[in-house]
Amino acid sequence: MRGRTPILAMWLALSATLLFAAIGDGAWMQRVPERDRLRPNPFADNFNAVSGGEKLFHQNCAQCHGSDASGRDKHPPLRSDRVRAATPGELYWLLTNGSMRNGMPSWSKLPEQQRWQIVSYLKTLN
Ligand code: HEC
Repeated sequence: MRGRTPILAMWLALSATLLFAAIGDGAWMQRVPERDRLRPNPFADNFNAVSGGEKLFHQNCAQCHGSDASGRDKHPPLRSDRVRAATPGELYWLLTNGSMRNGMPSWSKLPEQQRWQIVSYLKTLN
């Protein structure tokens, strides 16, 4: 029994690492095709888009990411270096495709315009 304890401890540490590496490590970014990454936001710097996006955020996103977007449980904060560094095209791609395996739904049922409004709002958070 004594011999097995370190192996068990190592196994637990390894699974914990894998679990945390999967969610919130930004791996989704590597899946964004170059063409999508460079797409500009047609509503960049549009004040109405930001307030529209904020409303949509509270309706659709706050339940997981928190109403101040600071994250909760296994849902990453959206006030973060990664979201700040992400291009509008990358954020739009994530909203469209989701990261379903990790629990981020696809928002492709929202009209394109609303997805870009949410991107505008996300860009004001950071
Ligand atoms: C059911 C819970 C849930 C809802 C609702 C949800 N998300 Fe997420 N979101 C997640 C999870 C889980 C991740 C982590 C995905 C990953 O790392 O692959 C994530 C990741 C993200 C990221 C990337 C963050 C990062 O640091 O990599 C952004 C941006 C994001 N969500 C925006 C939104 C927006 C905007 C909405 C509303 C339209 C939304 N999410 C709704 C669960 C949710």
